[in-house]
Amino acid sequence: MYFKDTFCENCGAAVVLNYGDIDLETRAVIKKTPHVVCDTCGDLARENRRRSLNWWKDKERINDAGFPEDLIKWDSIKGNNTLYESIKAAQMRWLWISGSHGTCKTRALCALGAELLIRKRWKVAYYRAVDLGTKVSALYSKSVDKAEAFQRKLAWGFDLIIIDDLGKEVVTPRVIEFIYGLVDARAVSRKPLWFSTNLDGDSLERLYKKENHGPAILRRLRENCETIQAFKKDMPAIAKGGN
Ligand SMILES: Nc1ncnc2c1ncn2[C@@H]1O[C@H](COP(=O)(O)OP(=O)(O)OP(=O)(O)O)[C@@H](O)[C@H]1O
Ligand SMILES: [Mg+2]
Ligand SMILES: [Zn+2]
Repeated sequence: MYFKDTFCENCGAAVVLNYGDIDLETRAVIKKTPHVVCDTCGDLARENRRRSLNWWKDKERINDAGFPEDLIKWDSIKGNNTLYESIKAAQMRWLWISGSHGTCKTRALCALGAELLIRKRWKVAYYRAVDLGTKVSALYSKSVDKAEAFQRKLAWGFDLIIIDDLGKEVVTPRVIEFIYGLVDARAVSRKPLWFSTNLDGDSLERLYKKENHGPAILRRLRENCETIQAFKKDMPAIAKGGN
């Protein structure tokens, strides 16, 4: 073995380096450490590698949950902090978040949903209502079993379901039947459901009432939800008038 006194390339601490074995014939060092660091810096590097690996896993989970990646970072200078804090305080419940265009509903839902997914390891699913509607219609056109399996998964398999912009979906008997089944089952499982909408309760009711289970959806939501109103006046001055 061949040892040498040297210094950590990172912090400058003294390091006794094991250069490895020496070939006695050629006197050449066979194994050479490529990057000299002390034990402390080595541990730190390993910890950082482990963290960045977790970060990639979190990123994957965020994508799987359906969150648009550019919407999960909360900026308290730009954002509606009143809304953010209200949702956070009531996160374990069913939330009906209403408010007009640009009041930070989507941003707050995504930021808080992703936070629960990462910090508390919740299983979360985020859908824009319009995408959920399209997906449900496509599943039903393949097979009723597939659609019902998806409904069961959403009802029972997630700690939190987020539906953004309810009322923007194309309303069909199938879609309404699906939403009703979902809401009804989650009322039994008692796990949180958050949704946002630009519509007030009466408009949502008008939109749904021509379908069979439409009025029942509204009844369930009204029974179970805590209402949170997002106001323009709570938007920071810097954010008023756009992104
Ligand atoms: N990183 C950020 N963190 C918090 N708020 C942000 C951030 N970036 C932009 N914003 C604010 O979010 C606003 C957009 O809000 P958002 O799209 O969530 O509204 P919304 O209530 O969902 O509207 P809509 O009803 O049209 O869907 C922007 O106008 C800006 O003020
Ligand atoms: Mg939105
Ligand atoms: Zn070091």
